[in-house]
Amino acid sequence: MTFDPNRRNLLRNSVTLGAGGTIVLSLIGPTFAEEDKGEEKEPEVSATEDLMRGHGIIRRALLVYYEVLPKLRTKPASVNAAALQQIAKLFRTFGEDYHERMLEEQHIFPLLRKHGQEFLRYVDILTEQHNRGREITDYILTVTKSGKISSLHAKPLAEVFESFLVMYENHAAREDTIVFPAWKKNFTDKQLDQIAAQFEDIEHKIFGKDGFDEAEKTISSIETTLELSDLSKFTAPAPPKV
Ligand SMILES: [Fe+2]
Ligand SMILES: [Fe+2]
Repeated sequence: MTFDPNRRNLLRNSVTLGAGGTIVLSLIGPTFAEEDKGEEKEPEVSATEDLMRGHGIIRRALLVYYEVLPKLRTKPASVNAAALQQIAKLFRTFGEDYHERMLEEQHIFPLLRKHGQEFLRYVDILTEQHNRGREITDYILTVTKSGKISSLHAKPLAEVFESFLVMYENHAAREDTIVFPAWKKNFTDKQLDQIAAQFEDIEHKIFGKDGFDEAEKTISSIETTLELSDLSKFTAPAPPKV
């Protein structure tokens, strides 16, 4: 058996082995010693950071939808439907199947449902928005499947992109500032480390590798294809002089 010097893996190993204190300590010893020697290790990713950087991938996908809006309204035949299909697939696998279903709906929402009426209502709305998002992704996958956006679908698709963007920006912003902080308060730092390790396990089980890194590569490549990779392009113009 080999042990990764990454602390999340270390914690996972200790969790997997159970409460056998002696065994766990004997495993921890050499690993920290390796760290002392200055061996390279990946930085830790906390549970909430994991969730929030998931939102980063989701937001970048939504921004691609936003960027195609002008073309969709004026020259729908020139829209790169294959790139939109790729975005929708990424949204499905990383955003909906992993981030929403496996992390939020399995780990975050059930606990918050016990936090009183206000959170119960919040979680109900967030769950409804996940479900609406899945319907929207089904629709995007369908209308982009042929490789062209038909003039029949162009206007409704543009409207769907706009309302999806507004819904999800509100959704993710509330999760980042209200839902995740409230959830996090239920745990000690040590428990949060263990949950972070569980999240990483789920990620590896679903994607067979680092799902975040792969998703980031995919979104970067789509942004490059659509000439959206230059961040400076999005710097706002100076406001009018008054
Ligand atoms: Fe969510
Ligand atoms: Fe989320």
